Amino acid sequence: MNYFLIAHNILRWAVLLFGLWTLLNALTGVFSKRSFTAGDNRTNLLFMTFCDIQLLIGLVLYFNGMWFDRVKSSMGEVMKNPMERFFAVEHALMMIIAWLLVHIGRSMVKRSGIDAQKHKRSLIYFGLAIVIIIAMIPWPFKAAGIARQWFPQF
Ligand code: HEM
Repeated sequence: MNYFLIAHNILRWAVLLFGLWTLLNALTGVFSKRSFTAGDNRTNLLFMTFCDIQLLIGLVLYFNGMWFDRVKSSMGEVMKNPMERFFAVEHALMMIIAWLLVHIGRSMVKRSGIDAQKHKRSLIYFGLAIVIIIAMIPWPFKAAGIARQWFPQF
């Protein structure tokens, strides 16, 4: 049993929960022009923390599993096979971009002293990150070979 894969599967729900919560906070912040609260800060901090954990586990899966070996030995074949390309290239790369957006977003939000600007920056950076994350999760309804379960199978 691969405990890293189980953890990676389950933690996607924590990333999604705090990501969508952060996005909702940003939307209500921008449209109702409310102040930026400690609650807003806490929610996006948890979003970032779960993204960090997910990245670390993802890197373990990538370098300990067959994906990195496949990229090293047969990149041409990997790129021609949609299933292999998804895990070996697209999923990993796009999730790292989303993770970067979350980190840049948090520092941009911290750096601003104006609440309206904090909400606007949250909406742009965290919003973009959550869209990428949702698009790149191997949902059960994705193509055969890419599709994975909603929850880990024991
Ligand atoms: C927010 C970020 C991420 C989310 C939400 C996410 C989500 C997922 C999910 C739901 C799976 C399917 C798990 C299963 O088969 O039960 C998966 C698989 C995988 N993820 Fe991620 N992931 C993220 C980031 C990353 C990153 C940054 C990497 C690598 C650098 C990565 C590498 C992998 C690999 C290699 C697999 C396939 C493992 C295998 O079946 O051999 N993930 N990911």
